[in-house]
Amino acid sequence: MLTAFSNTPARERIIVALDCGKDEALALADKLAGHAVWMKVGMTLYYAHGPEVVRALKEKGFKVFLDLKLHDIPHQVKGAAKAVANSGADMMTMHTFGGVAMMQAAQEGVSLSASERGASPIVTLGVTVLTSMDDETLAGLGVGRSAADQVKALAEKAKEAQISGVVASPQEAAVLRGILGPDAYIVTPGVRPAGAALGDQSRVATPAKAFADGASHIVVGRPITQAEDPVAAFEAIVDEIQES
Ligand code: C5P
Repeated sequence: MLTAFSNTPARERIIVALDCGKDEALALADKLAGHAVWMKVGMTLYYAHGPEVVRALKEKGFKVFLDLKLHDIPHQVKGAAKAVANSGADMMTMHTFGGVAMMQAAQEGVSLSASERGASPIVTLGVTVLTSMDDETLAGLGVGRSAADQVKALAEKAKEAQISGVVASPQEAAVLRGILGPDAYIVTPGVRPAGAALGDQSRVATPAKAFADGASHIVVGRPITQAEDPVAAFEAIVDEIQES
């Protein structure tokens, strides 16, 4: 599937999820320097160490995806999004379920930070339905739609709010690419290179399949971070993408 990202080099489309403690994360980053471009910092690492972790990764030359999944009233999210952008992060997340006004507020916060810093606005992504939730969970919460339909409905809201794109499972990528168009970011976790251990992920796709279905970027954690040789594991994924 041709997208605005089709000509982006493979290594710039892989985001390494650093789901570990700070020392381990920074040691991994040192190993992957010169190979990987993007690192993902999630809530566990961020709530323990704060913007210091983002700064340390930026100093090592990485782009940082700060995955804090903001969800609050628009005023609060605007301030939080601005703070996230000011920290030096290059990509951030919010829950689309916060609504169009909240997503627009996040975008405003990011734009305000960009104009104050004289930089381009960072990438803003919406999370639709968490993959830990299924049709039954949604029904229990009073949501009448199936998870698949809810993902589509929330993606439409992300489009309306004009944020950069969404986080989605590889299975949803093709449908979401149809809704969001060729320029949107569609970042997919749940990716496993051919033959890799699944861990706790159930609905997975290979990197090549995720991109063929319209992903702009893939998030890969344990297949790289828990490999005996993380650099070799990362480069094997780059090769797998380039060969496809
Ligand atoms: O180790 P693994 O490759 O499974 O890591 C995937 C990363 O993507 C983790 O940081 C996980 O929290 C995140 N993620 C996910 N599924 C989602 C959303 C985020 O696996 N639906």
